[in-house]
Amino acid sequence: MKVVTSATDLNAISPARPRVLVPTMGALHDGHLALVKRARELAGTDGEVMLTLFVNPTQFNNPSDLENYPRTMDRDLKLCKEHGVDLVFAPEADSMYQPDHSVNIIESSLSKRLCGATRPGHFEGVCTVVLKLFNLTRSDIAVFGKKDFQQLAIIRRMVRDLNVPITIEGVDTIRESSGLAMSSRNTRLSEKQHADAPRIRRALLAAQDLHAQGEHDPEKLLACAREEIEASTEGAKIDYLELLDAESLQPLEKVTRPAVIATAVFYGEVRLIDNIELG
Ligand code: PAF
Repeated sequence: MKVVTSATDLNAISPARPRVLVPTMGALHDGHLALVKRARELAGTDGEVMLTLFVNPTQFNNPSDLENYPRTMDRDLKLCKEHGVDLVFAPEADSMYQPDHSVNIIESSLSKRLCGATRPGHFEGVCTVVLKLFNLTRSDIAVFGKKDFQQLAIIRRMVRDLNVPITIEGVDTIRESSGLAMSSRNTRLSEKQHADAPRIRRALLAAQDLHAQGEHDPEKLLACAREEIEASTEGAKIDYLELLDAESLQPLEKVTRPAVIATAVFYGEVRLIDNIELG
């Protein structure tokens, strides 16, 4: 496995095709390893899997979240090696953006709600860094997790609208045995918060069950999910809980089309996200 830290060194390596990219911010967990596994399948024997490790400062709207974001480079590199990654790109923080960097990518529809509404500037940072990574790595395919439902939708839209020559592949969310979605942020939960947090998944499943029983009113479905989260014994605080059209990410009056319930919940300073699809 090769590790490169500069764009110049990266450019000097000719890619094996297809080159399949797994963009990450490090602190790798089983969710990331599922992305690597899918990337390996897509790359086949002739292609290569490339993983990027970069904690992108421009997508953090909260400085303490950026500061506390777990950084576990040595462990990450070991996991990459063990799981068949061929090439790691781990750029230095200040090498990605020029001091007078002034061009950003703005998505103006899908990013209006959910994380886009509660984390101003987040998706501008994500789209900009993801497009930079696509350009720097010259990848054919990129793999993203469905836990970040809105991120995946926005990246697909960016690729479509800007004719970026890359294929986007979504991979199902990997969960702990309790149902809690795997996240690098889970390591920052206290033991009690960690035991309480699977209620996020239970809340979404309860709403999905209610929908399967014939309830199509978004307010009732959301109330059902909200009740479970608000029963938290560890002070879980809902940042958002919304039911939206799964394609346009706009509110629905009635769930008659494929929809998604997406939520972000704070445990103290730790913010966890999850979602479930309906229909
Ligand atoms: O999902 C993430 O980890 C990040 O948003 C990404 C796509 C690596 C961009 O920094």
